[in-house]
Amino acid sequence: MKKLVVDVLEKALKKKGIKISREEIEEKIGIPPSQDMGDYSFPCFFLAEQLKDNPHQIAMELRDSIKTPKATDFDDIQTVGPYINFFIDRKNLARKVVWETISQKKTYGAEKIGKGKKLIIEFSSPNIAKPFGIGHLRGTIIGNSIANVAEFLGYKVVRINYLGDWGSQFGKVLFGYDKFGNEKKFLKNPIEHLYEVYVKVNKKIYEKKSSEWFKRLEDQDKSALMLWKAFRDSSIEAFEKIYKDLGVSFDEYSGESESVKRVNETMDELAKKKLIKKSKGALIVDLTKYGLDVCMMVKTDLGTTYALRDLSEAIQRYKKYKFDTMIYEVGQEQTLYFKQVFKILELMGYSWAKDCLHNDHGFYLNTKGKKFSTRKGQTVFMKDILEETKNLARKEIQKRGEKLKKEEIEKRALNVAVAAIFYGDLKNYRRSNIVFDIKKFVSFEGDTGPYILYSYARASSIIRKAKKQGEKFEITELNEHELDLVKRIYQFEETVVKAFKSLAPSMIATYSYELAKSFNEFYHSSPVIGSDEEPFRMALVEAFRITLRNSLNLLGIKAIEEM
Ligand code: ARG
Repeated sequence: MKKLVVDVLEKALKKKGIKISREEIEEKIGIPPSQDMGDYSFPCFFLAEQLKDNPHQIAMELRDSIKTPKATDFDDIQTVGPYINFFIDRKNLARKVVWETISQKKTYGAEKIGKGKKLIIEFSSPNIAKPFGIGHLRGTIIGNSIANVAEFLGYKVVRINYLGDWGSQFGKVLFGYDKFGNEKKFLKNPIEHLYEVYVKVNKKIYEKKSSEWFKRLEDQDKSALMLWKAFRDSSIEAFEKIYKDLGVSFDEYSGESESVKRVNETMDELAKKKLIKKSKGALIVDLTKYGLDVCMMVKTDLGTTYALRDLSEAIQRYKKYKFDTMIYEVGQEQTLYFKQVFKILELMGYSWAKDCLHNDHGFYLNTKGKKFSTRKGQTVFMKDILEETKNLARKEIQKRGEKLKKEEIEKRALNVAVAAIFYGDLKNYRRSNIVFDIKKFVSFEGDTGPYILYSYARASSIIRKAKKQGEKFEITELNEHELDLVKRIYQFEETVVKAFKSLAPSMIATYSYELAKSFNEFYHSSPVIGSDEEPFRMALVEAFRITLRNSLNLLGIKAIEEM
Protein backbone atom coordinates (compact mmCIF):
# COMPACT_ATOMS: atom_id res chain seq x y z
CA MET A 1 0.00 0.00 0.00
CA LYS A 2 2.85 2.32 0.78
CA LYS A 3 4.16 1.29 -2.60
CA LEU A 4 1.04 2.75 -4.21
CA VAL A 5 1.78 6.06 -2.55
CA VAL A 6 5.36 5.95 -3.77
CA ASP A 7 4.10 5.11 -7.27
CA VAL A 8 1.85 8.12 -7.61
CA LEU A 9 4.36 10.46 -6.01
CA GLU A 10 7.14 9.24 -8.23
CA LYS A 11 5.10 10.06 -11.33
CA ALA A 12 3.98 13.45 -10.07
CA LEU A 13 7.48 14.49 -9.03
CA LYS A 14 8.92 13.41 -12.33
CA LYS A 15 6.41 15.58 -14.16
CA LYS A 16 7.69 18.51 -12.11
CA GLY A 17 11.22 17.70 -13.22
CA ILE A 18 12.43 16.67 -9.77
CA LYS A 19 15.17 14.08 -9.52
CA ILE A 20 14.48 11.84 -6.58
CA SER A 21 14.79 8.10 -6.11
CA ARG A 22 12.02 5.78 -4.94
CA GLU A 23 13.97 5.13 -1.75
CA GLU A 24 14.18 8.82 -0.99
CA ILE A 25 10.48 9.25 -1.55
CA GLU A 26 9.79 6.29 0.67
CA GLU A 27 11.90 7.75 3.42
CA LYS A 28 10.05 11.01 3.37
CA ILE A 29 6.61 9.45 3.60
CA GLY A 30 5.30 9.63 7.13
CA ILE A 31 2.32 8.41 9.07
CA PRO A 32 -0.08 11.16 10.23
CA PRO A 33 -0.69 11.43 13.97
CA SER A 34 -4.34 10.45 13.67
CA GLN A 35 -6.35 8.31 11.31
CA ASP A 36 -8.67 11.13 10.22
CA MET A 37 -5.66 12.85 8.67
CA GLY A 38 -5.07 9.95 6.36
CA ASP A 39 -2.86 6.88 6.31
CA TYR A 40 0.27 8.33 4.79
CA SER A 41 1.50 11.81 4.33
CA PHE A 42 4.15 13.47 2.23
CA PRO A 43 5.71 16.75 3.38
CA CYS A 44 6.73 19.20 0.66
CA PHE A 45 9.07 21.55 2.57
CA PHE A 46 12.18 20.10 1.04
CA LEU A 47 11.07 21.11 -2.46
CA ALA A 48 10.59 24.80 -1.69
CA GLU A 49 14.11 25.89 -2.46
CA GLN A 50 14.43 23.97 -5.70
CA LEU A 51 11.01 25.00 -7.05
CA LYS A 52 11.20 28.53 -5.67
CA ASP A 53 7.69 28.31 -4.36
CA ASN A 54 6.04 27.89 -1.00
CA PRO A 55 5.47 24.33 0.25
CA HIS A 56 1.71 24.70 0.40
CA GLN A 57 1.55 25.73 -3.25
CA ILE A 58 3.82 22.86 -4.21
CA ALA A 59 1.65 20.39 -2.30
CA MET A 60 -1.45 21.60 -4.19
CA GLU A 61 0.22 21.40 -7.57
CA LEU A 62 1.53 17.93 -6.93
CA ARG A 63 -1.89 16.88 -5.73
CA ASP A 64 -3.46 18.22 -8.93
CA SER A 65 -1.09 16.38 -11.16
CA ILE A 66 -2.00 13.10 -9.45
CA LYS A 67 -5.60 13.59 -10.67
CA THR A 68 -7.96 10.78 -9.73
CA PRO A 69 -6.08 7.58 -9.03
CA LYS A 70 -7.69 4.17 -9.15
CA ALA A 71 -10.62 3.96 -6.82
CA THR A 72 -9.50 0.60 -5.44
CA ASP A 73 -6.26 2.20 -4.29
CA PHE A 74 -7.29 5.42 -2.61
CA ASP A 75 -10.42 6.82 -1.05
CA ASP A 76 -9.08 10.30 -1.16
CA ILE A 77 -5.96 12.42 -1.48
CA GLN A 78 -6.00 15.80 0.27
CA THR A 79 -3.63 18.63 0.92
CA VAL A 80 -3.30 20.26 4.31
CA GLY A 81 -0.78 23.07 4.35
CA PRO A 82 2.53 21.66 3.11
CA TYR A 83 1.37 18.05 3.36
CA ILE A 84 -0.27 15.73 0.90
CA ASN A 85 -2.35 13.24 2.84
CA PHE A 86 -3.28 9.91 1.34
CA PHE A 87 -6.37 8.01 2.38
CA ILE A 88 -5.96 4.54 1.10
CA ASP A 89 -8.90 2.28 0.47
CA ARG A 90 -8.93 0.84 3.94
CA LYS A 91 -11.27 -2.07 3.45
CA ASN A 92 -9.27 -3.15 0.48
CA LEU A 93 -6.10 -2.88 2.55
CA ALA A 94 -7.61 -4.93 5.36
CA ARG A 95 -8.81 -7.61 3.00
CA LYS A 96 -5.46 -7.90 1.26
CA VAL A 97 -3.31 -7.83 4.38
CA VAL A 98 -5.39 -10.40 6.21
CA TRP A 99 -5.54 -12.75 3.24
CA GLU A 100 -1.87 -12.46 2.54
CA THR A 101 -0.96 -13.20 6.11
CA ILE A 102 -3.26 -16.15 6.41
CA SER A 103 -2.16 -17.68 3.15
CA GLN A 104 1.58 -17.11 3.63
CA LYS A 105 1.83 -18.06 7.30
CA LYS A 106 5.47 -18.78 8.19
CA THR A 107 6.79 -16.80 5.28
CA TYR A 108 4.56 -13.78 5.83
CA GLY A 109 6.77 -10.71 5.89
CA ALA A 110 9.82 -12.38 4.39
CA GLU A 111 11.04 -10.28 1.52
CA LYS A 112 13.76 -12.46 0.04
CA ILE A 113 16.46 -9.82 -0.28
CA GLY A 114 19.19 -12.29 0.70
CA LYS A 115 18.43 -14.89 -1.91
CA GLY A 116 21.59 -16.48 -3.30
CA LYS A 117 23.84 -14.81 -0.75
CA LYS A 118 25.85 -16.31 2.07
CA LEU A 119 26.16 -14.70 5.44
CA ILE A 120 28.44 -15.83 8.22
CA ILE A 121 27.65 -14.71 11.70
CA GLU A 122 29.93 -15.36 14.60
CA PHE A 123 28.37 -14.85 18.00
CA SER A 124 28.35 -15.92 21.63
CA SER A 125 31.99 -17.14 21.57
CA PRO A 126 32.44 -17.68 25.30
CA ASN A 127 35.78 -18.37 26.86
CA ILE A 128 36.42 -21.82 28.05
CA ALA A 129 37.47 -22.35 31.58
CA LYS A 130 35.88 -19.07 32.40
CA PRO A 131 32.21 -19.41 33.15
CA PHE A 132 29.51 -18.59 30.68
CA GLY A 133 28.55 -15.42 32.42
CA ILE A 134 26.30 -12.57 31.74
CA GLY A 135 28.98 -10.88 29.62
CA HIS A 136 28.43 -13.25 26.73
CA LEU A 137 24.67 -13.29 26.95
CA ARG A 138 24.10 -10.08 25.03
CA GLY A 139 26.07 -11.20 22.02
CA THR A 140 24.30 -14.56 22.16
CA ILE A 141 20.86 -12.98 22.10
CA ILE A 142 21.57 -10.32 19.49
CA GLY A 143 23.63 -12.59 17.25
CA ASN A 144 20.98 -15.28 17.34
CA SER A 145 18.32 -12.79 16.35
CA ILE A 146 20.33 -11.36 13.47
CA ALA A 147 20.98 -14.88 12.22
CA ASN A 148 17.25 -15.61 12.36
CA VAL A 149 16.41 -12.43 10.50
CA ALA A 150 18.99 -13.06 7.79
CA GLU A 151 17.68 -16.57 7.30
CA PHE A 152 14.11 -15.31 7.12
CA LEU A 153 15.18 -12.89 4.38
CA GLY A 154 16.60 -15.70 2.30
CA TYR A 155 20.30 -15.62 3.16
CA LYS A 156 22.16 -18.85 3.49
CA VAL A 157 23.35 -18.39 7.07
CA VAL A 158 26.24 -20.06 8.88
CA ARG A 159 26.25 -19.60 12.66
CA ILE A 160 29.68 -19.91 14.18
CA ASN A 161 30.67 -20.10 17.81
CA TYR A 162 34.33 -19.16 18.07
CA LEU A 163 35.35 -20.49 21.43
CA GLY A 164 37.99 -18.75 23.48
CA ASP A 165 39.69 -22.07 24.05
CA TRP A 166 43.29 -20.91 23.71
CA GLY A 167 45.29 -17.99 24.94
CA SER A 168 47.03 -16.73 28.00
CA GLN A 169 44.00 -17.16 30.26
CA PHE A 170 44.58 -20.89 29.84
CA GLY A 171 47.96 -20.43 31.42
CA LYS A 172 46.11 -19.08 34.42
CA VAL A 173 43.59 -21.88 34.63
CA LEU A 174 46.23 -24.55 34.16
CA PHE A 175 48.53 -23.06 36.73
CA GLY A 176 45.60 -22.36 39.04
CA TYR A 177 44.39 -25.93 38.78
CA ASP A 178 47.89 -27.25 39.35
CA LYS A 179 48.24 -25.14 42.46
CA PHE A 180 44.75 -25.05 43.95
CA GLY A 181 42.76 -27.61 41.99
CA ASN A 182 40.81 -30.51 43.39
CA GLU A 183 39.80 -33.36 41.14
CA LYS A 184 36.67 -34.26 43.06
CA LYS A 185 35.39 -30.72 42.94
CA PHE A 186 36.23 -30.45 39.27
CA LEU A 187 34.32 -33.58 38.38
CA LYS A 188 31.30 -32.45 40.33
CA ASN A 189 31.07 -28.84 39.15
CA PRO A 190 33.68 -28.32 36.45
CA ILE A 191 32.89 -24.77 35.37
CA GLU A 192 32.49 -23.39 38.85
CA HIS A 193 35.64 -25.06 40.07
CA LEU A 194 37.75 -23.82 37.18
CA TYR A 195 36.45 -20.37 37.78
CA GLU A 196 37.33 -20.63 41.44
CA VAL A 197 40.96 -21.47 40.68
CA TYR A 198 41.09 -18.86 37.95
CA VAL A 199 40.09 -16.15 40.37
CA LYS A 200 42.66 -17.36 42.91
CA VAL A 201 45.61 -17.03 40.56
CA ASN A 202 44.49 -14.00 38.61
CA LYS A 203 47.02 -11.86 40.45
CA LYS A 204 50.14 -10.03 39.50
CA ILE A 205 52.45 -12.31 41.53
CA TYR A 206 51.34 -15.35 39.52
CA GLU A 207 51.67 -13.79 36.10
CA LYS A 208 55.04 -15.30 35.32
CA LYS A 209 54.03 -18.80 36.35
CA SER A 210 50.81 -18.54 34.38
CA SER A 211 52.55 -17.49 31.21
CA GLU A 212 54.99 -20.37 31.62
CA TRP A 213 52.03 -22.72 31.67
CA PHE A 214 50.62 -21.18 28.55
CA LYS A 215 53.99 -21.61 26.88
CA ARG A 216 53.93 -25.30 27.81
CA LEU A 217 50.56 -25.58 26.17
CA GLU A 218 51.72 -23.86 23.00
CA ASP A 219 54.69 -26.22 22.92
CA GLN A 220 52.26 -29.15 22.99
CA ASP A 221 53.37 -30.41 26.38
CA LYS A 222 51.41 -33.64 26.94
CA SER A 223 50.20 -33.11 30.50
CA ALA A 224 49.23 -29.51 29.80
CA LEU A 225 47.32 -30.62 26.72
CA MET A 226 45.52 -33.35 28.59
CA LEU A 227 44.28 -31.01 31.26
CA TRP A 228 43.34 -28.48 28.64
CA LYS A 229 41.25 -31.02 26.82
CA ALA A 230 39.40 -32.05 29.95
CA PHE A 231 38.64 -28.41 30.74
CA ARG A 232 37.46 -27.77 27.22
CA ASP A 233 35.22 -30.84 26.96
CA SER A 234 33.47 -30.26 30.23
CA SER A 235 32.98 -26.57 29.46
CA ILE A 236 31.42 -27.23 26.08
CA GLU A 237 29.10 -29.75 27.64
CA ALA A 238 27.93 -27.14 30.13
CA PHE A 239 27.51 -24.46 27.45
CA GLU A 240 25.41 -26.75 25.33
CA LYS A 241 22.96 -27.31 28.12
CA ILE A 242 22.47 -23.58 28.38
CA TYR A 243 22.15 -23.07 24.64
CA LYS A 244 19.54 -25.78 24.54
CA ASP A 245 17.46 -24.04 27.19
CA LEU A 246 17.85 -20.75 25.37
CA GLY A 247 16.88 -22.31 22.04
CA VAL A 248 20.11 -21.18 20.41
CA SER A 249 22.13 -23.37 18.07
CA PHE A 250 25.26 -23.21 15.95
CA ASP A 251 26.33 -24.72 12.66
CA GLU A 252 29.93 -24.75 13.64
CA TYR A 253 32.02 -24.68 16.78
CA SER A 254 35.38 -23.30 15.88
CA GLY A 255 37.79 -21.84 18.34
CA GLU A 256 41.13 -20.30 18.96
CA SER A 257 42.66 -23.73 19.49
CA GLU A 258 41.84 -24.50 15.86
CA SER A 259 42.99 -21.23 14.36
CA VAL A 260 46.24 -21.37 16.31
CA LYS A 261 47.24 -24.30 14.11
CA ARG A 262 47.49 -21.97 11.15
CA VAL A 263 49.35 -19.06 12.71
CA ASN A 264 52.73 -19.95 11.23
CA GLU A 265 51.31 -19.80 7.75
CA THR A 266 49.74 -16.45 8.51
CA MET A 267 52.99 -15.10 9.96
CA ASP A 268 54.87 -16.15 6.82
CA GLU A 269 52.33 -14.43 4.66
CA LEU A 270 52.46 -11.24 6.73
CA ALA A 271 56.25 -11.25 6.54
CA LYS A 272 56.22 -11.84 2.80
CA LYS A 273 53.90 -8.90 2.37
CA LYS A 274 56.30 -6.82 4.47
CA LEU A 275 53.76 -6.05 7.13
CA ILE A 276 55.72 -7.28 10.15
CA LYS A 277 57.97 -5.10 12.28
CA LYS A 278 60.08 -5.88 15.35
CA SER A 279 59.33 -3.86 18.40
CA LYS A 280 60.95 -4.47 21.80
CA GLY A 281 61.32 -8.15 21.08
CA ALA A 282 57.74 -8.53 19.91
CA LEU A 283 56.43 -8.75 16.35
CA ILE A 284 53.82 -6.22 15.39
CA VAL A 285 51.91 -4.73 12.48
CA ASP A 286 52.21 -0.98 12.58
CA LEU A 287 48.90 0.70 11.83
CA THR A 288 49.65 4.13 13.26
CA LYS A 289 49.49 5.54 9.73
CA TYR A 290 45.80 4.68 9.71
CA GLY A 291 45.19 5.98 13.22
CA LEU A 292 44.82 2.42 14.45
CA ASP A 293 47.86 2.08 16.72
CA VAL A 294 49.96 -1.07 16.50
CA CYS A 295 48.67 -4.61 16.61
CA MET A 296 50.80 -7.30 18.20
CA MET A 297 51.18 -10.64 16.45
CA VAL A 298 53.80 -12.45 18.52
CA LYS A 299 54.68 -11.50 22.07
CA THR A 300 58.15 -11.06 23.56
CA ASP A 301 57.86 -14.50 25.11
CA LEU A 302 57.03 -15.86 21.62
CA GLY A 303 53.42 -16.54 22.59
CA THR A 304 50.97 -16.00 19.74
CA THR A 305 48.22 -13.43 20.08
CA TYR A 306 44.47 -13.29 19.86
CA ALA A 307 44.85 -11.06 16.79
CA LEU A 308 47.09 -13.45 14.92
CA ARG A 309 44.62 -16.23 15.59
CA ASP A 310 41.72 -14.09 14.37
CA LEU A 311 43.55 -13.30 11.12
CA SER A 312 44.19 -17.00 10.54
CA GLU A 313 40.58 -17.82 11.30
CA ALA A 314 39.15 -15.17 8.97
CA ILE A 315 41.32 -16.33 6.08
CA GLN A 316 40.27 -19.91 6.69
CA ARG A 317 36.59 -18.97 6.84
CA TYR A 318 36.76 -17.21 3.53
CA LYS A 319 38.43 -20.22 1.95
CA LYS A 320 35.77 -22.48 3.36
CA TYR A 321 32.64 -20.42 2.81
CA LYS A 322 33.29 -17.68 0.23
CA PHE A 323 30.87 -15.54 2.19
CA ASP A 324 29.20 -12.37 0.93
CA THR A 325 29.12 -10.92 4.42
CA MET A 326 30.71 -11.89 7.69
CA ILE A 327 29.42 -10.40 10.92
CA TYR A 328 31.23 -10.52 14.24
CA GLU A 329 28.71 -9.93 17.00
CA VAL A 330 31.07 -8.85 19.79
CA GLY A 331 30.98 -6.21 22.54
CA GLN A 332 32.05 -2.65 21.87
CA GLU A 333 35.21 -2.96 23.97
CA GLN A 334 36.72 -4.72 20.94
CA THR A 335 35.89 -2.01 18.42
CA LEU A 336 39.44 -0.78 17.83
CA TYR A 337 40.65 -4.34 17.79
CA PHE A 338 38.34 -5.37 14.95
CA LYS A 339 39.25 -2.28 12.96
CA GLN A 340 42.85 -3.45 13.23
CA VAL A 341 42.04 -6.98 12.15
CA PHE A 342 40.03 -5.83 9.12
CA LYS A 343 42.70 -3.29 8.17
CA ILE A 344 45.42 -5.95 8.27
CA LEU A 345 43.33 -8.27 6.09
CA GLU A 346 42.91 -5.43 3.64
CA LEU A 347 46.66 -4.72 3.64
CA MET A 348 47.26 -8.41 3.02
CA GLY A 349 45.33 -7.91 -0.18
CA TYR A 350 42.08 -9.66 0.71
CA SER A 351 39.35 -7.80 -1.10
CA TRP A 352 36.70 -9.50 1.03
CA ALA A 353 38.01 -7.60 4.08
CA LYS A 354 35.40 -4.97 3.20
CA ASP A 355 32.65 -7.55 3.68
CA CYS A 356 33.61 -8.18 7.30
CA LEU A 357 31.93 -6.17 9.94
CA HIS A 358 31.94 -5.88 13.66
CA ASN A 359 28.43 -5.42 14.98
CA ASP A 360 29.15 -3.99 18.39
CA HIS A 361 26.94 -3.92 21.46
CA GLY A 362 27.01 -2.30 24.89
CA PHE A 363 27.12 -4.04 28.24
CA TYR A 364 24.71 -5.07 30.89
CA LEU A 365 24.74 -3.10 34.08
CA ASN A 366 23.56 -4.44 37.40
CA THR A 367 20.58 -2.84 39.11
CA LYS A 368 22.99 -0.39 40.77
CA GLY A 369 24.02 0.76 37.33
CA LYS A 370 27.51 -0.79 37.56
CA LYS A 371 29.27 -3.11 35.13
CA PHE A 372 29.37 -6.81 35.96
CA SER A 373 32.91 -8.02 36.32
CA THR A 374 34.44 -11.47 35.91
CA ARG A 375 37.86 -10.58 37.18
CA LYS A 376 36.94 -9.97 40.77
CA GLY A 377 34.92 -13.10 41.08
CA GLN A 378 31.54 -11.36 41.03
CA THR A 379 30.42 -12.89 37.85
CA VAL A 380 26.83 -13.83 37.39
CA PHE A 381 26.53 -17.31 35.96
CA MET A 382 24.18 -17.84 33.06
CA LYS A 383 22.88 -21.01 34.66
CA ASP A 384 21.88 -19.12 37.81
CA ILE A 385 20.26 -16.27 35.91
CA LEU A 386 18.10 -18.68 34.00
CA GLU A 387 17.16 -20.54 37.18
CA GLU A 388 16.25 -17.34 38.97
CA THR A 389 14.18 -16.05 36.07
CA LYS A 390 12.43 -19.38 35.80
CA ASN A 391 11.52 -19.25 39.49
CA LEU A 392 9.93 -15.85 39.05
CA ALA A 393 8.09 -16.98 35.93
CA ARG A 394 6.84 -20.10 37.69
CA LYS A 395 5.38 -18.00 40.49
CA GLU A 396 3.55 -15.79 38.01
CA ILE A 397 2.17 -18.80 36.19
CA GLN A 398 0.97 -20.43 39.41
CA LYS A 399 -0.65 -17.18 40.50
CA ARG A 400 -3.07 -17.60 37.62
CA GLY A 401 -4.56 -20.48 39.52
CA GLU A 402 -4.89 -22.94 36.69
CA LYS A 403 -4.33 -26.56 37.73
CA LEU A 404 -1.42 -27.79 35.65
CA LYS A 405 0.87 -30.78 35.55
CA LYS A 406 4.33 -30.11 36.89
CA GLU A 407 5.88 -30.82 33.52
CA GLU A 408 3.64 -28.28 31.84
CA ILE A 409 4.48 -25.65 34.45
CA GLU A 410 8.19 -26.22 33.93
CA LYS A 411 7.85 -25.97 30.18
CA ARG A 412 5.93 -22.74 30.37
CA ALA A 413 8.24 -21.30 33.02
CA LEU A 414 11.27 -21.86 30.81
CA ASN A 415 9.52 -20.39 27.81
CA VAL A 416 8.42 -17.32 29.74
CA ALA A 417 11.88 -16.91 31.29
CA VAL A 418 13.61 -16.96 27.92
CA ALA A 419 11.07 -14.54 26.49
CA ALA A 420 11.62 -12.25 29.49
CA ILE A 421 15.39 -12.21 29.16
CA PHE A 422 15.54 -12.03 25.37
CA TYR A 423 12.93 -9.33 25.07
CA GLY A 424 14.37 -7.42 28.06
CA ASP A 425 17.58 -7.22 26.10
CA LEU A 426 16.35 -6.83 22.55
CA LYS A 427 13.96 -3.99 23.16
CA ASN A 428 17.02 -1.79 23.66
CA TYR A 429 19.18 -0.54 20.85
CA ARG A 430 22.24 -2.77 20.80
CA ARG A 431 24.74 0.00 21.41
CA SER A 432 23.15 1.20 24.65
CA ASN A 433 24.24 -0.23 27.95
CA ILE A 434 21.26 -1.74 29.67
CA VAL A 435 20.29 -2.51 33.21
CA PHE A 436 19.81 -6.22 33.57
CA ASP A 437 16.82 -6.35 35.86
CA ILE A 438 15.20 -9.76 35.90
CA LYS A 439 12.28 -8.70 38.09
CA LYS A 440 11.28 -6.06 35.58
CA PHE A 441 11.90 -8.32 32.60
CA VAL A 442 9.63 -11.02 33.93
CA SER A 443 6.65 -8.82 34.78
CA PHE A 444 3.44 -9.75 32.98
CA GLU A 445 2.55 -6.13 32.53
CA GLY A 446 4.17 -3.29 30.64
CA ASP A 447 6.78 -3.41 27.95
CA THR A 448 7.98 -6.97 28.60
CA GLY A 449 8.36 -10.33 26.91
CA PRO A 450 5.70 -12.03 29.07
CA TYR A 451 3.18 -9.28 28.24
CA ILE A 452 3.68 -9.98 24.56
CA LEU A 453 3.44 -13.73 25.03
CA TYR A 454 0.28 -13.21 26.99
CA SER A 455 -1.43 -11.32 24.21
CA TYR A 456 -0.53 -14.14 21.85
CA ALA A 457 -2.05 -16.71 24.20
CA ARG A 458 -5.15 -14.57 24.44
CA ALA A 459 -5.54 -14.55 20.68
CA SER A 460 -5.04 -18.30 20.60
CA SER A 461 -7.79 -18.78 23.11
CA ILE A 462 -10.22 -16.86 20.90
CA ILE A 463 -9.34 -19.11 18.00
CA ARG A 464 -9.87 -22.20 20.14
CA LYS A 465 -13.30 -21.04 21.24
CA ALA A 466 -14.56 -20.23 17.80
CA LYS A 467 -17.01 -22.68 16.30
CA LYS A 468 -16.15 -22.13 12.70
CA GLN A 469 -12.78 -21.31 11.29
CA GLY A 470 -11.39 -20.27 7.95
CA GLU A 471 -14.70 -18.80 6.87
CA LYS A 472 -14.92 -16.35 4.01
CA PHE A 473 -15.31 -12.86 5.36
CA GLU A 474 -16.66 -9.59 4.21
CA ILE A 475 -15.84 -6.23 5.65
CA THR A 476 -18.76 -3.92 6.12
CA GLU A 477 -17.23 -1.44 8.52
CA LEU A 478 -13.71 -1.05 9.90
CA ASN A 479 -13.42 0.48 13.34
CA GLU A 480 -10.29 2.38 14.34
CA HIS A 481 -8.85 -0.51 16.37
CA GLU A 482 -9.28 -2.96 13.54
CA LEU A 483 -7.67 -0.53 11.18
CA ASP A 484 -4.78 0.06 13.54
CA LEU A 485 -4.16 -3.65 13.89
CA VAL A 486 -4.33 -4.17 10.12
CA LYS A 487 -1.78 -1.43 9.58
CA ARG A 488 0.61 -2.85 12.15
CA ILE A 489 0.42 -6.26 10.55
CA TYR A 490 1.07 -4.61 7.23
CA GLN A 491 4.20 -2.87 8.57
CA PHE A 492 5.88 -6.12 9.51
CA GLU A 493 7.73 -6.72 6.25
CA GLU A 494 9.13 -3.21 6.12
CA THR A 495 10.22 -3.43 9.75
CA VAL A 496 12.15 -6.65 9.25
CA VAL A 497 14.08 -5.28 6.28
CA LYS A 498 14.91 -2.08 8.14
CA ALA A 499 16.03 -4.01 11.20
CA PHE A 500 18.29 -6.15 9.07
CA LYS A 501 19.81 -3.21 7.25
CA SER A 502 20.84 -1.63 10.55
CA LEU A 503 21.51 -5.00 12.20
CA ALA A 504 19.25 -3.83 14.99
CA PRO A 505 16.76 -6.45 16.20
CA SER A 506 15.49 -3.82 18.65
CA MET A 507 13.31 -2.56 15.80
CA ILE A 508 11.57 -5.92 15.62
CA ALA A 509 11.25 -6.08 19.40
CA THR A 510 9.62 -2.67 19.56
CA TYR A 511 7.41 -3.68 16.68
CA SER A 512 6.27 -6.83 18.49
CA TYR A 513 5.29 -4.80 21.49
CA GLU A 514 3.35 -2.25 19.45
CA LEU A 515 1.61 -5.05 17.60
CA ALA A 516 0.65 -6.79 20.85
CA LYS A 517 -0.59 -3.52 22.30
CA SER A 518 -2.69 -2.83 19.24
CA PHE A 519 -4.20 -6.30 19.51
CA ASN A 520 -5.03 -5.78 23.18
CA GLU A 521 -6.85 -2.56 22.35
CA PHE A 522 -8.77 -4.29 19.63
CA TYR A 523 -9.56 -7.17 21.99
CA HIS A 524 -10.99 -4.88 24.65
CA SER A 525 -13.09 -2.85 22.23
CA SER A 526 -14.25 -5.32 19.62
CA PRO A 527 -15.88 -8.59 20.62
CA VAL A 528 -15.08 -11.38 18.23
CA ILE A 529 -17.17 -14.42 19.02
CA GLY A 530 -20.86 -13.90 18.46
CA SER A 531 -20.49 -10.50 16.86
CA ASP A 532 -21.82 -9.64 13.39
CA GLU A 533 -18.25 -9.17 12.30
CA GLU A 534 -17.15 -12.56 13.56
CA PRO A 535 -15.75 -13.97 10.30
CA PHE A 536 -13.60 -10.94 9.59
CA ARG A 537 -12.48 -10.45 13.17
CA MET A 538 -11.62 -14.08 13.45
CA ALA A 539 -9.44 -13.80 10.37
CA LEU A 540 -7.87 -10.67 11.77
CA VAL A 541 -7.03 -12.43 15.04
CA GLU A 542 -5.46 -15.26 13.08
CA ALA A 543 -3.44 -12.83 10.97
CA PHE A 544 -2.27 -11.18 14.16
CA ARG A 545 -1.18 -14.51 15.62
CA ILE A 546 0.82 -15.39 12.53
CA THR A 547 2.53 -12.03 12.41
CA LEU A 548 3.39 -11.92 16.09
CA ARG A 549 4.63 -15.49 16.00
CA ASN A 550 6.90 -14.72 13.05
CA SER A 551 8.12 -11.59 14.73
CA LEU A 552 8.88 -13.35 18.02
CA ASN A 553 10.63 -16.17 16.19
CA LEU A 554 13.01 -13.63 14.74
CA LEU A 555 13.84 -12.53 18.26
CA GLY A 556 14.45 -16.13 19.33
CA ILE A 557 11.26 -16.26 21.39
CA LYS A 558 8.75 -19.07 21.04
CA ALA A 559 5.09 -18.10 21.16
CA ILE A 560 3.00 -20.37 23.38
CA GLU A 561 -0.67 -21.18 23.07
CA GLU A 562 -1.48 -20.99 26.75
CA MET A 563 0.07 -19.18 29.61
N1 ARG B 1 36.10 -15.06 23.21
C1 ARG B 1 36.16 -13.65 23.05
C2 ARG B 1 35.85 -12.94 24.35
O1 ARG B 1 35.17 -13.49 25.16
C3 ARG B 1 35.24 -13.14 22.00
C4 ARG B 1 35.55 -13.62 20.63
C5 ARG B 1 35.17 -12.64 19.61
N2 ARG B 1 35.40 -13.11 18.30
C6 ARG B 1 36.57 -13.05 17.65
N3 ARG B 1 36.61 -13.55 16.46
N4 ARG B 1 37.61 -12.48 18.19
O2 ARG B 1 36.24 -11.81 24.58
